[in-house]
Amino acid sequence: MKPTLLPVTLAGVPLRNPIIAAAGTCGYVTELADVLAPAALGAIVTKSITREPRVGNPPWRIIDARHGMLNAVGLANVGLDGFVADKLPAAAGVDTVIIGSIAGNSIDDYVAVAAAFDAADTLPLVELNVSCPNTSDGLQFGEHPAGLRALLSAVRPALGRTKMIVKLSPNVGDIVAMARAAIDGGADAITLINTVSALAIDVDTRQPRLSRGAGGLSGPAIHPIAVRMVWQVYDAIARDAGVPIIGLGGVVRWQDAAELVLAGATAVGMGTALFVDPRLPLRVARGLEAWVKKQGCRTLDELTGEVAM
Ligand SMILES: Cc1cc2nc3c(=O)[nH]c(=O)nc-3n(C[C@H](O)[C@H](O)[C@H](O)COP(=O)(O)O)c2cc1C
Repeated sequence: MKPTLLPVTLAGVPLRNPIIAAAGTCGYVTELADVLAPAALGAIVTKSITREPRVGNPPWRIIDARHGMLNAVGLANVGLDGFVADKLPAAAGVDTVIIGSIAGNSIDDYVAVAAAFDAADTLPLVELNVSCPNTSDGLQFGEHPAGLRALLSAVRPALGRTKMIVKLSPNVGDIVAMARAAIDGGADAITLINTVSALAIDVDTRQPRLSRGAGGLSGPAIHPIAVRMVWQVYDAIARDAGVPIIGLGGVVRWQDAAELVLAGATAVGMGTALFVDPRLPLRVARGLEAWVKKQGCRTLDELTGEVAM
């Protein structure tokens, strides 16, 4: 039996510990296993998979930023068929829970990937990355409650036993309205947050530093934004609805993870930190465990949402 560091249950799925490796930061899962034993993580999210293969944006598509990084990878991935045939069997053999991330440019795209993931039967959870433009109207699914509702009403029936996590974009005016749309649409859990829209300029060439122009900011710079959004959503709707939140954004130390838990998170994602040191999740999990004991608690969920506000 593998040691358990602070087990949690997410949407009915038991995780060995609350730390989840975030989408897009550990490839198709097995890449991370080269540098960190998967059993040290509660779960690993695959990079987002689309119906068709995508080459993504040209370089530069990942750059450093102060207190974080900026990326516009453009959802580069092998596509659904390649993933199911070549990547999923190896990922499913890894000793932790695997969460399949889904992206698309139309509702049909999402439904096709969701149905295939459900049929594969090796992914107990999927995570919908809704920060993608819908080619029919150019708006991101995660930008407007109506767009999100339409997406979820089509995807939900395509998922049988597989639980549905909806990952929300922070680039909206009203995050609670988006969370409400996700919960109304049948989300079993919510991930907060994806990257924050940002732009970096090379002052010598006067050009954007990323080939695509703007990109998504991640890492410690966005952590307080994530904490604020987790708290808002937890307080306004998720607590009463009983829908767990995966808090994500800028976690590099156990204290960052503890803040997200106090704000309302049941589990905690780590992304950019893996580029700094892929073993950081282990340290964060151990730190959280010691913190829970020091707080006089036995389980992490006793501290979920327990900020004194
Ligand atoms: C290089 C890179 C690639 C990413 N790719 C994806 C992706 O494919 N799907 C997705 O939902 N999020 C993706 N993200 C967003 C992360 O999963 C996470 O939401 C974000 O980076 C904030 O967490 P962090 O500050 O811990 O990195 C990516 C982030 C980075 C840095």
